[in-house]
Amino acid sequence: MPAIDTSGTFTLGDRAVKRLGYGAMQLAGPGVFGPPKDRDAALAVLREAVASGVNHIDTSDFYGPHVTNQLIREALAPYPDDLVIVTKIGARRGKDGSWLPAVSPEELTQAVHDNLRNLHLDVLDVVNLRAMFAAHGPVEGSIEAPLTALAELQRKGLVRHIGLSNVTPTQIAEGRRIARIVCVQNHYNLAHRTDDGLIDDLARDGIAYVPFFPLGGFHPLQSATLSGVAARLGATPMQVALAWLLRRASNLLLIPGTSSVVHLRENLTATQLHLPDHELAVLDGIAASTENAATIDSGPKPA
Ligand SMILES: NC(=O)c1ccc[n+]([C@@H]2O[C@H](COP(=O)([O-])OP(=O)(O)OC[C@H]3O[C@@H](n4cnc5c(N)ncnc54)[C@H](OP(=O)(O)O)[C@@H]3O)[C@@H](O)[C@H]2O)c1
Repeated sequence: MPAIDTSGTFTLGDRAVKRLGYGAMQLAGPGVFGPPKDRDAALAVLREAVASGVNHIDTSDFYGPHVTNQLIREALAPYPDDLVIVTKIGARRGKDGSWLPAVSPEELTQAVHDNLRNLHLDVLDVVNLRAMFAAHGPVEGSIEAPLTALAELQRKGLVRHIGLSNVTPTQIAEGRRIARIVCVQNHYNLAHRTDDGLIDDLARDGIAYVPFFPLGGFHPLQSATLSGVAARLGATPMQVALAWLLRRASNLLLIPGTSSVVHLRENLTATQLHLPDHELAVLDGIAASTENAATIDSGPKPA
């Protein structure tokens, strides 16, 4: 059995995907802007992921912009039947690489067509509406208008399933009155656990929760506690961070990002790491410790 099969699957929309997937954002250039430094290396990461059994890839046409989708297409099309590509819309990039809201019906329609063209697909499996009230975290505000526009694109057959990203529980409740929401993609990891209650609520309703920055994002997790657990288990800190997420709840689907085949291989074998209960308790203490949480929280960029 391939390593990543050991942690099982969860239904995303109407298809079962493996709980460990891949996030493509790191494949674009510095600041997720422009082309990668090493295009062949980026293509190799994508091919290795799928060859290793990954069947869930997270992307957006505003990574680059267009760059990661074009890499995915070049590396993987024609796509394996079981591959689920999840994209997101709701933002655009300024000329300086800034992240700007793009939520008018025209911008959302354009974004769906950009994703379809650059991924070379007739229909997008899952599209997350990325709330942009604030760049760095969920902020209250109605998502009715953009979600209604996205639901209309779904009705036209361009989108199979809809998810939400960077949202509050109130926005998710509002969203579920407008469309069927199959996943929520928010910032969450060992050290950043604001969504603990939300994850449990979504699990009860069979909705996938896809943590972004699972390894800490632009500033990967660093903690003496995490390193200590990793050393005792003969694993790396990143493997422990992923194994902890896999244990946290069965509706968590992981999309760790990397631009390195070596890191990808390391991350995918996290499925085989057993976390004993006493080490789990030690890891749970990381977020509880203000001092640690302050030093290992993730980076400033949205996406
Ligand atoms: N919805 C949203 O607003 C949003 C926001 C951010 C991200 N996302 C999605 O979530 C995915 C994951 O987030 P992310 O990529 O930003 O952050 P991440 O997965 O938490 O961490 C990626 C960082 O960790 C490093 N890394 C990965 N594996 C490693 C390993 N084994 N050892 C050491 N360092 C390692 C990577 O560097 P190397 O390249 O050197 O490995 C990169 O700097 C993204 O790809 C994107 O698809 C969504």
